[in-house]
Amino acid sequence: MVRPKSADLLRWYDQNARQLPWRVPPSAPSEDSSINQDLQQPDPYRIWLSEIMLQQTTVTAVIPYFNSFIRRWPTIKDLAEAQLDTVLQAWAGLGYYARARNLHKSAAIIVKEHEGKFPNTKKELLELPGVGPYTASAIAAIAFGQSEAVVDVNVERVLARLFAVQETLPTAKTRLNELARSLTPKTRPGDYAQGVMDLGATICTFQKPKCEICPWLPSCKAYKLGNVDQFPKRLPKEKRPIRKGIAFWVVGVDGSVLLRRRPETGLLGGMIEVPSTNWDVAGSMDLFKAPLLAEWNELPGKVSHSFTHFKL
Ligand code: ADE
Repeated sequence: MVRPKSADLLRWYDQNARQLPWRVPPSAPSEDSSINQDLQQPDPYRIWLSEIMLQQTTVTAVIPYFNSFIRRWPTIKDLAEAQLDTVLQAWAGLGYYARARNLHKSAAIIVKEHEGKFPNTKKELLELPGVGPYTASAIAAIAFGQSEAVVDVNVERVLARLFAVQETLPTAKTRLNELARSLTPKTRPGDYAQGVMDLGATICTFQKPKCEICPWLPSCKAYKLGNVDQFPKRLPKEKRPIRKGIAFWVVGVDGSVLLRRRPETGLLGGMIEVPSTNWDVAGSMDLFKAPLLAEWNELPGKVSHSFTHFKL
């Protein structure tokens, strides 16, 4: 088999890059150096903001929020000077409010401790609240052109198929990270990172991958084996336990509905909800756990929701 080359992926990205509001167009090096002088440079503030928003949210859902943030707070200084509550309000709907709080905290740190200039090493990036290894690598590669391997779920899927990785996730992560490092080029690492993400999002998709038009087809071991859809391998799913609880719908005399905010950390951190009893396997159905004393009426019906580790 031919070993996959980053150059083949970059050539594909030059033709097929998705246009996203935080991106600059691909920057294929030109023979004529005078052309390259006009290349747009990615703005680290925009790359960071997009990566934080994309942590738990799809590209399609992020785009309108990203555009509205940039309109309101065009620079990191603007964001640092904003009121936290205004930022939280603008974030409403994206969920996981800890991300918005960390965003605001990080903006203040960058303005105070880095004179408003975005830190450009992975080490310094990791010191910002809300920036973990994936996000630090993505910012270092995309915004600063550093040769860091960027591995999200899309990239994991591409690499697991390309190399027919037999280990199951999450154990396979170590091997997938090694493979990612071995493929990441010294030149254009940012375009390369975004290219593999785009390949995973548009060609090497979870279902019905479009292998016939994949630039890495000649190198793909899973394709050769004829079982692309069996990668990445996962342990069989454990049956999820069922938890139960009672949710309380309380309407005030003025028509307002009683809501509360969940704790910052943990499941659905910082999100707003109607009050409820604890959710537990035995079923916490105790009306004495109600938020206030009242003559409660039981409403018909049940609401079900699936989380990764349990069903509610
Ligand atoms: N998902 C996370 N980061 C991304 C990026 N920079 N481009 C496309 N999808 C992404």
